[in-house]
Amino acid sequence: MRSHYCGRIDAGLIDHDVALCGWVDTRRDHGGVVFLDLRDHTGIVQVVVEPDNAAAYAALSGASYEWCLRITGTVRRRIAANERIATGAFEVLADAVEVLNAARDLPFALHEPTSEETRLTQRHLDLRRPQMQHALRTRTRLVQALRRWLDARGFQDIETPILTKATPEGARDFLVPARMHAGEFYALPQSPQLFKQLLMIAGFDRYYQIARCFRDEALRADRQLEFTQLDMEFAFVDERVVQDTVEAMIREVFREVGGIGLADPFPRMTWLEAMTRYGSDKPDLRIALELADIAPLVKGSTFKVFSEWAGADDGRVVALRAPGGAKFSRKQIDDYAALAARFGAKGLAWMKVDAVGQGLAGVSSPIAKFLDTAALEGILRATAAQAGDALFFGAGPFGTASEFMGALRLKLGHDLGLVADAWRPLWVTDFPMFEWDAGAGRYVALHHPFTAPKADDEAALRADPARALSRGYDMVLNGNEIGGGSIRIHRPGLQRAVFDLLGITPQEAEAKFGFLLRALGHGAPPHGGIAFGIDRLAALLAGVESIREVIAFPKTTGAQCLLTGAPSPVPEAQLAELHIAVRAR
Ligand code: AMO
Ligand code: AMP
Repeated sequence: MRSHYCGRIDAGLIDHDVALCGWVDTRRDHGGVVFLDLRDHTGIVQVVVEPDNAAAYAALSGASYEWCLRITGTVRRRIAANERIATGAFEVLADAVEVLNAARDLPFALHEPTSEETRLTQRHLDLRRPQMQHALRTRTRLVQALRRWLDARGFQDIETPILTKATPEGARDFLVPARMHAGEFYALPQSPQLFKQLLMIAGFDRYYQIARCFRDEALRADRQLEFTQLDMEFAFVDERVVQDTVEAMIREVFREVGGIGLADPFPRMTWLEAMTRYGSDKPDLRIALELADIAPLVKGSTFKVFSEWAGADDGRVVALRAPGGAKFSRKQIDDYAALAARFGAKGLAWMKVDAVGQGLAGVSSPIAKFLDTAALEGILRATAAQAGDALFFGAGPFGTASEFMGALRLKLGHDLGLVADAWRPLWVTDFPMFEWDAGAGRYVALHHPFTAPKADDEAALRADPARALSRGYDMVLNGNEIGGGSIRIHRPGLQRAVFDLLGITPQEAEAKFGFLLRALGHGAPPHGGIAFGIDRLAALLAGVESIREVIAFPKTTGAQCLLTGAPSPVPEAQLAELHIAVRAR
């Protein structure tokens, strides 16, 4: 049917006959001559149909955008080359035109900006666009490069079940009713975590899998209900072996797929340092702004919000400099306060700096009246404020104040054009083992319940769980958490203790994780690993904002597939067979 690809027509084919298949990208009619840009997955080439070729000319009548054609003809040099396309120096003089299929009632023009809703509803057309072809090809090249790297180093690719038992990663499970066991359910894996640990216990030593994971959680630009991990596990290692290995892999793959050079080695930062300096456990190091702690300066302030949090055990008072921010309008400041409020802020105090060195006369701020000159001078020094800047202040519990000021830092960085054009990877380490969930009145695991504590000692862990650190680590790139992993607990006693601290009763632990506890007792080796978000890596390499752009058929933020209409109701008979009765909503 086809002898060559559109995008591969070159000088070597001049005067040769070719047969091309593809879609009409554009059509121009000029004095009886028809010029078509014919497109396939490799690119486009110009096709010329002259009016004296009556059959071809007739075949083309009515043929327009996105019609599917087969064209045979002869390659020749173009009179005026088009520098913007790879084949721009050549064209194909059509001999015969065959319409393989018409395209009628196109819902949108592929060349024009279109709403995401339309794009997702008509994804087959959206994916025809060169940007989407490029994005998905980048993803393919990423996965190929990762596989090549891992295969060459003896990692074994092993599949793990999709119909399985709950694997807690902190999200809700997707459940599948078991027809043959009335009232029972399989869970779709949130990750292959427990299976890969079992594979280490089984002696496979080095494992990887390109694994689909399922998490019923709120969707965002970097989150889907189903997504893909590069999942890895290593036996007989400490964190340094895992980190050094995968860091080398990521560096090599980014060079190969994206031509991107990443730092060697990646910088490392503890969780505490990341939260303290950047207000985030995945700091975007492209933005140089840092949070400044000012609690000691405002401890004695008459502004209650500051003095109370400055004095509280887990409190934090921080200032953030917005370079040139003195020009912000009232509305802009209100918008920043609204953003901070979305991240839990009770308020966002601000200050405009007109001059430094002039004490309170040099600044304007609703909280200036609560500050004495010494505190003000201290704040200006701590933030390195300059005339023309604005300062924002956050006070609250450590986690909340850090988080909303961290979110503000990102927003200011983008709004003020302070995001460097660079690639800034890092490791974040030394995470807290547990986080207190006030709503549930218990601890939850910051990574997952199988992550080993730094102190390999049950008594130490029980003595002060709130301060215990874990052997978890995340790889972060330009503010994205691209991978996360840990050294695991490999002894059943410690695993039981961690379950206990998480409020999991021995009965529950047995019911949910009995198979793991038993396996840990069968000579489990020390082991650890990591999983990378393939979608996130692909989005970074393809230079797109959302992982939806590197997933062929993604869900909307409303958790729907607009193309197929999933999820959808099912017939009563099917439900009955699954022993399911749907409750009235
Ligand atoms: P974690 O939950 O950190 O670790 O996931 C690993 C990586 O997967 C990506 N990711 C996601 N990508 C898209 N949509 C989502 N909803 C989503 N959730 C996570 C992120 C993240 O860094 N079993 C552990 C790994 C381990 O300990 O080895 C785990 O799943 O890039
Ligand atoms: P108020 O006295 O409540 O009107 O607050 C005075 C200023 O402090 C306002 O600009 C508030 O937005 C700000 N503010 C209130 N609570 C906080 C907080 N927790 N952190 C930072 N600023 C706050």
